[in-house]
Amino acid sequence: MKKRSGKTVRAKASSRARRSSTRKTGVGAGNTVFLVGFMGAGKSSVGRALSQLLNWDFEDLDDRIERRERRSVAEIFRESGEVQFRRAERDALQNILDDLRGGARVIALGGGAFVQESNATLLNASNVPTVFLDAAVEELWQRCSKQAAEAGAERPLLGSQAEFKKLYQARRKSYKKASVMIPTSNRSVEVIAAEIIKLLGLKKIETRVEEGEVE
Ligand code: S3P
Repeated sequence: MKKRSGKTVRAKASSRARRSSTRKTGVGAGNTVFLVGFMGAGKSSVGRALSQLLNWDFEDLDDRIERRERRSVAEIFRESGEVQFRRAERDALQNILDDLRGGARVIALGGGAFVQESNATLLNASNVPTVFLDAAVEELWQRCSKQAAEAGAERPLLGSQAEFKKLYQARRKSYKKASVMIPTSNRSVEVIAAEIIKLLGLKKIETRVEEGEVE
């Protein structure tokens, strides 16, 4: 897809991200990445692969919410509703952003987190790169419904295929505000992770083996 400038949208997004990462001086600059995108986009699996390639830590925002709330995401939705879940999500995100000095980290956000205006504002103010993992909505639906059936797990907001598609379409413009956008269809998590490293110029943490230590 070409813009009038002649650059592809993706190339433009990546040069914007690179420009901003060289400008960064704040905490978290260069050592934190947030993955965003719809349910089934592969945020957790790509996040894990990316953190392994970089020797960074990996964290899933939903896991932090569950620890803080002492109940599962599905329970929060069922017992307290989506509004309460979004509050818990925003507080957990703020908690992560307050702690960016905690070390190099890849963080996967839940599918609705980046869509909330207040969360996007928090992330932009923190000057951390956000990566939108995208795929065709039909593929996202296949992945999510298959996962839910295999795990026998309750998945809030999965709904019918028509509702899923409507939600995806309503959210896509928000995801596109991320620093970079990466297509994931028919690509392995390793290939996607390697592309993120290249686009954002991320640096691997080299582990040093001290004398006398067994590798
Ligand atoms: C949600 C996505 C879920 C989870 C919650 C709400 C959403 O995360 O945060 O069920 O609003 O799209 P995943 O995208 O990791 O499934």
